[in-house]
Amino acid sequence: MVIKKPNEIKSSEITDEQTYLSRRNFIRAGLLAGTTLATTGVYRFLNPPPPKPFITAEIQDVTKPTDFQTTEKLNTFEEITNYNNYYEFSTSKTAVARQAENFITRPWTIEVGGLVRKPKTFDIEELLKFGQEERIYRFRCVEGWSMVIPWIGFSLKTLLDKVEPLGTAKYVAFETLYDSKQMQSSFSAGIDLPYVEGLRLDEALHPLTILATGLYGKQMPNQNGAPIRLIVPWKYGFKSIKSIVKINLTSSEPPTTWNIAAPSEYGFYSNVNPNVRHPRWSQATEKRIGEYTRRETLLFNGYADEVGKLYEGMDLKRFL
Ligand code: MTE
Repeated sequence: MVIKKPNEIKSSEITDEQTYLSRRNFIRAGLLAGTTLATTGVYRFLNPPPPKPFITAEIQDVTKPTDFQTTEKLNTFEEITNYNNYYEFSTSKTAVARQAENFITRPWTIEVGGLVRKPKTFDIEELLKFGQEERIYRFRCVEGWSMVIPWIGFSLKTLLDKVEPLGTAKYVAFETLYDSKQMQSSFSAGIDLPYVEGLRLDEALHPLTILATGLYGKQMPNQNGAPIRLIVPWKYGFKSIKSIVKINLTSSEPPTTWNIAAPSEYGFYSNVNPNVRHPRWSQATEKRIGEYTRRETLLFNGYADEVGKLYEGMDLKRFL
């Protein structure tokens, strides 16, 4: 690089004071803007904005059958909608609400087929007209936390009856939407997508098994599996597949996402069972979100009287 001596510099090359000052102001403004942007970026990263309030509509004409209520303290709407597992959007429980904020859930259909007499594609608006009930259930995640949630929905049996399962149908397979434009890639989720789940037909027809369309009187928030998800309260939460687009009746046991990912850790049945350890932790106790001490986990999540007979004669330590 050549450095010119002062007397070699032509007056035309000297910047006048005004230009010099405005140039300095411009540089200063640029630096300031850059610093502000960087600081804002770091601040945003450390303090993500709270998700906007969910603008989900009220569900009208909800009945409250006494069989499915509870005296246990409910978890709050804030707890239920800000501590989620929905790997398609994020593997961070507190980030799902924000990541799923703009998830498009209309139009939406569920295709029901396989071993049925009357296969049919149901529009979500039609499903929302099925008699909606409030079902207050305990919800126990395999990770060792639990909540009490006032779901709204209808029994899965109502839907299955309409398609008339054939005698050869023994299982029900479920599939979540997978839309890579709206959801993160399967690679970063660490599981194969679309997320798939399954039940034995008698489990699917059990009165406790519902398709949930909402919670706390409102349509389902995106992070909880809008517009429609499965709830099987006596099984670990990962069986309760979200944002369902396909239901298929089959003669053999369908593959399930977590069993594919880690067959030695997650079985097809995955009934809540305090006597059977997860290979890496005990399932004897759980942390109810909002409580400080752990509580004992109940066999079949406290629904043994209702569902115990489904597993008569089965060794629950073998059929995981
Ligand atoms: N369904 C889909 N499609 N993707 C998921 O990641 N996570 C499961 C289940 N259903 C999951 C899913 C797990 S591990 C749990 S514990 C529950 O959803 C969590 O439901 P919640 O966020 O409403 O509490």
